[in-house]
Amino acid sequence: MLNQEEIENIVFEKAIDSFELKQIVERCAKQISKDYKDKNLAFLVILNGAFVFAADLLRCFDSACLTYFIKVSSYQGMQSTNQVKVSGLPEGVLEGKDVVIIEDIVDSGLTMRKLLERLQEEKVASLEVCTLFFKPENFKENYNIKYIGKAIENDFIVGYGLDFNDKGRNLADVYQRKNQ
Ligand code: IMP
Ligand code: MG
Repeated sequence: MLNQEEIENIVFEKAIDSFELKQIVERCAKQISKDYKDKNLAFLVILNGAFVFAADLLRCFDSACLTYFIKVSSYQGMQSTNQVKVSGLPEGVLEGKDVVIIEDIVDSGLTMRKLLERLQEEKVASLEVCTLFFKPENFKENYNIKYIGKAIENDFIVGYGLDFNDKGRNLADVYQRKNQ
């Protein structure tokens, strides 16, 4: 069916279509462009999930900017570690920059908190977060998220870069796990 996707026997229903996603992305890009006029902006894209959002956001963004990509993991094997592991960040590139992190989704907020703590070491001029999706009911942290594309309910979603076991990132729309 057109409005459903099945991944590993789990049915997902279309929740946010590509038209709405485009509007969200354009709004975020416009806001950041306005806020960072004449600033030394560096986007920091969190792989893998944010790759589609970032590709669209950056192409809507019409001011000068630097773009970097990193991978963040807080797990080693099955063990959650106390520190996030950041890979792919060239040494010193963020120093003195106004950094905007581009993330696909902030859920409990733990991963982002650890990343923010880690980036304190980079001597950035300023640091803000732009997340496409945010789950307010799950969020347990105190830090501010300046740019939120869309607040959503506490359901698992896939598509537009977001995955379920690395599947579904290619879907142009966003699908939500159907209630059991
Ligand atoms: P946290 O709970 O905010 O630390 O979320 C960590 C990570 O879980 C996010 O960066 C996503 O990669 C993943 N995640 C959370 N919710 C979803 C979802 O609904 N779909 C796909 N991935 C998710
Ligand atoms: Mg992620």
